[in-house]
Amino acid sequence: MPDGTQIDYNGLIPNNVGLADDQRVRRALETWHPGYIDWWKQMGPEGFQDCPVYLRTAVGVGAEGWAKFDFVRMPDYRWGVLLAPQVEGRTIPFGAHKGEPAWQEVPGEYRAMLRRLLVIQGDTEPASVEQQRHLGATAPSLYDMRNLFQVNVEEGRHLWAMVYLLQKYFGRDGREEAEELLRRRSGDQDSPRMLGAFNERTPDWLSFFMFTFFTDRDGKMQLAALAQSGFDPLSRTCRFMLTEEAHHMFVGETGVQRVIQRTCDAMKAAGISDPYDIGKVRALGVIDLPTIQKKANLHFALTLDLFGSEISTNAANAFNAGLKGRYREDKLTDDHQLLHDTYPVLRPRDGAIIREDVPALSALNMRLRDDYVEDTQAGINRWNRVLERSGIEFRITLPHVAFNRRIGEFSRLHADTSGRILSDAEWSARRLEMLPSDDDNRFIASLMRPSVAKGVYANWIAPPRHGIDNKPGDFEYVHIVR
Ligand SMILES: [Fe+2]
Ligand SMILES: [Fe+2]
Repeated sequence: MPDGTQIDYNGLIPNNVGLADDQRVRRALETWHPGYIDWWKQMGPEGFQDCPVYLRTAVGVGAEGWAKFDFVRMPDYRWGVLLAPQVEGRTIPFGAHKGEPAWQEVPGEYRAMLRRLLVIQGDTEPASVEQQRHLGATAPSLYDMRNLFQVNVEEGRHLWAMVYLLQKYFGRDGREEAEELLRRRSGDQDSPRMLGAFNERTPDWLSFFMFTFFTDRDGKMQLAALAQSGFDPLSRTCRFMLTEEAHHMFVGETGVQRVIQRTCDAMKAAGISDPYDIGKVRALGVIDLPTIQKKANLHFALTLDLFGSEISTNAANAFNAGLKGRYREDKLTDDHQLLHDTYPVLRPRDGAIIREDVPALSALNMRLRDDYVEDTQAGINRWNRVLERSGIEFRITLPHVAFNRRIGEFSRLHADTSGRILSDAEWSARRLEMLPSDDDNRFIASLMRPSVAKGVYANWIAPPRHGIDNKPGDFEYVHIVR
C-alpha cells in the first residue's frame, strides 16, 4: 500500500491512491486507457510521437524532489493518478458547512454541481493539447519543443486527474463523462470543447507563449479555488496539479520575455529606437513590440471570458456548498461565509463604466478574476523590466477588462484598451490598432520555421538563461527521428 507520497509504478497506471487494491476503479481506468492512448496519438503532438523527449515524470508528490528527468517517447509517458498527501483532520474551510470534517465521499445533495465542476475543469486539459498539436513542426529550438511537449503530457495527466475523480466517485455517470472528455474536440463545429478560449486556434509560437502565460494562469486560479474544496479528493488532486502548472506559467512568461529580449537586442544592434517603426523592425526578422502588445490584448480578453459572468449564482452556490473557494481562501481572514459582505464590481451604466457594490457571494467570479489580473500584472511587470533595461521607450500594458469581451457585463458594448466606450463605427475603425490583423498574423507565421539543430535558436527569440534540469545550452532535448 503506498504511503501517500510514494508512487506505485508497478501497474499499468502509476498512482498513489491504492489502485492495486481498488479493483472497480482500476478496471474502469484500464478500460478507459486505450481510448486515451488513441486520443493522444490522434490529437497529441503531430509528427513527434516516436521521438525520445527529455521529460520530467513525477516520482513522488511531496514538496521535495518530486520529479525525475529522462528520455521518453510521449505515448510511453507514465500518465497516472497523483494526489497531494491527505491532511489529517482537515475541515471544510468555507461556506455553509465551514468547520465540518472535509468530505471523503461525494455529498449527495451536491453531486450534480460537483460533477459539473469536474467536467468543466477536465475538458480544458485535453483541449489545450489539441490546440497546440501542430506547433512541434515550427519549434524555435529543441529546448522550446521539449517545453511544449512537457506542457502537453502534463495537460494529459490533468485529464487523468479529473477522470479518476469521475470514475471513482460518480459510477456510471462518471464513466460516461470520461468518455465524453475524449470525444469532444477543440474547435469542432458539432462537438466543441466547453469553453470559448479552448476552441480558439494556437497557430504560432507567440500565441503558444501567450496562451501559457494568460490562459494556463486561468487554470492556476481555477485549480487554486478548487484546491480549497471541502471535497477532499478534489482538493488533494488540485494541490498536486498546481505544482505541475507552475512550469506551464514559466514557459509562457519566459517565452514572451525572450521574444521581447530578442526584439530589443536586434533593434539596438540596428540603431532603431522607435518601436513603432514597424517595417524596419520586421525587416530584422523579429516581432515588433506593438504586435506583441496586440497579441497580449487578444489573449488577455479571451482568458477573462473564462471567469464567467461577474455576477453569478452558480459561483455563489458552489461556494455555499463548500465545493469551490476563493483564491488562497485559507490565507483570508474574514468569516469565510460572506453572507453579509459586499464586493465592488465594474459594470456598464448609461454609457459609462461604474463600480458598484454587490453581495460578495454573487461576485465570486469577479473576485477570482481580480486576483487573476493582479497575478498577471506581476508577470507583465517582469516583461517590462527587459524593456527598461534595454532603454527602449515601450511598455506592455494590460488592456481594460471591458476590452473585447464576449461574456459578462461588457459583452454588449465595445470599449478600447483604456476602457473608453466606443460606438460600433469607432470600434470597426480602431479594432486593428488593438488586435492582431491578418497582416500581423501573416508576418508572425512567416517567422515560424523550425530550428532543430543542437543549441540553435530561431532568430526571433533569445536563448533561455538556463537549461531545463541544469542542462548545458547545446543539450539535445528531443532526439528527432523521422
Ligand atoms: Fe492543466
Ligand atoms: Fe497548464
